[in-house]
Amino acid sequence: MKILFAASEIYPLIKTGGLADVAGALPVALRKKGHDVKLIMPAYKGILEKVAPIQKTINLGDQFGVGHLLLLETHIPENGTPIWLLQCQALYEREDGPYVDKNGFDFNDNHIRFAALSWATATLALKGGLIDWQADILHLNDWQTGFAAAYLKGWKTEHIPVVTTVHNLRYNGSFDLNQFADTHLSSELLNIHGIEFYGRFSGLKAGLVYADAITTVSPTYAEEILTPEYGDGLDGVLRVMQEKLTGILNGVDYDQWSPEKDLLIPCNYNLETLDQKQVNKLALLKENNLSEDIKKPIFGIVSRLTEQKGLDLVLDAMPALLKKGARLIVLGSGDRHLEAGYLELQKRYPKQVSVRIGYFEDYSHRIQAGIDALLIPSRFEPCGLTQLYALKYGTLPVVRQTGGLADTVFEDGEHTNGFVFKDADSKSLQAAMERCYESFKDINGWRVKQQNAMKYDYSWDAVTDQWIDLYESLICKKL
Ligand code: ADP
Ligand code: GLC
Repeated sequence: MKILFAASEIYPLIKTGGLADVAGALPVALRKKGHDVKLIMPAYKGILEKVAPIQKTINLGDQFGVGHLLLLETHIPENGTPIWLLQCQALYEREDGPYVDKNGFDFNDNHIRFAALSWATATLALKGGLIDWQADILHLNDWQTGFAAAYLKGWKTEHIPVVTTVHNLRYNGSFDLNQFADTHLSSELLNIHGIEFYGRFSGLKAGLVYADAITTVSPTYAEEILTPEYGDGLDGVLRVMQEKLTGILNGVDYDQWSPEKDLLIPCNYNLETLDQKQVNKLALLKENNLSEDIKKPIFGIVSRLTEQKGLDLVLDAMPALLKKGARLIVLGSGDRHLEAGYLELQKRYPKQVSVRIGYFEDYSHRIQAGIDALLIPSRFEPCGLTQLYALKYGTLPVVRQTGGLADTVFEDGEHTNGFVFKDADSKSLQAAMERCYESFKDINGWRVKQQNAMKYDYSWDAVTDQWIDLYESLICKKL
């Protein structure tokens, strides 16, 4: 099959969260099974230095009045995956991240930036299009590429099966109606059954209503988003389209994320040599100048600091555990008040709490290898990758029972691989952390839980066939 896979971030070229990990790994897994996958993503500042030399350039013209859009054909050196980079200096070459400026505010031309990405994606996917390669399937991810489905709909060309994957329903990519003309989308689509969304227009809704199949990144989240509590205003739309919605759990790239192969941690280990985890633990404590008592557990956080992740709850629950001698190591960035809250906690407990604000890929590996328990008290979690990484490193996740966390972490007798709580409040989280703290005292019992965790296989290999089946079913339907 020929699959055009569109995303706004792809590891190892650029990453702000799990979408990049998935977009960097699923195409590789599909290619390993013999499928022909091509990626498309913007050429953000600095990206051209990370890819192979450009093989071909296609000028798509100045469709949006901001300068010519160029498609550059190349591949990702680390894994050979072919990629089209969409270049347009005015839209993508900025010092800041892919979506927000240095003060954390969305760029005010994001509707044009991602309409352009979507438009180029749709153009590339079109039959009789620009290149000697015809996609059988167009796979879109989140709101930033969702408009592609609307362009195709508006152009009324031959049908290409479209799959839209929802990684996070909270980010619906909705904009003021007075910005609609900038997108050059057909105004026929601007209605309640189309891309209109509560008096605005939405890239995510475009991706949903005009897709042949909608997937989300875990089975539980696929059910949750049909309810008003988790539906973010789109649950009604999703209920109507329920038949085309499925949940396929994300996988893990174990070449990057396994303690056996990880080149970024001080000491490699596996299920048989689990004792070596301690070397990583001591190194992490030393690196952070924290008390080196390894009889008490080290909790950790690697996360975007946003409302979604429930990390305000940790600020309330943590002091009781710190008083007992636990430690906390935090890596994250996001909401300013959460950053300040964690820095304040560090000030109060300098020998027990270490906080690093920012985004550091290498350090995130050392944390996964060096802590005992990873805190993920999310209010909602479409899949969550950090708990999957933690499991492999024999680090037990403490999670709220929601979305992909509910599908992968179990506190259930002999199957226990972590600690699970239900209610999104600090009391419930604290109780789970206390259970974790107590359980850590039982050396053999803890070891069994670690073994349970490390045995799981969440590799892409295990789920790639589900993707292939889905794509094939859509192609069959078309024929
Ligand atoms: P989300 O996509 O909602 O942020 P996921 O758990 O799916 O959550 O994926 C988050 C990814 O981003 C993981 O690979 C995690 O290790 C990484 N990550 C999050 N915050 C940081 C950070 N501050 N520094 C380094 N990596 C981070
Ligand atoms: C989103 C979700 C996260 C998921 C990731 C990759 O960012 O918040 O739960 O793991 O996408 O699908």
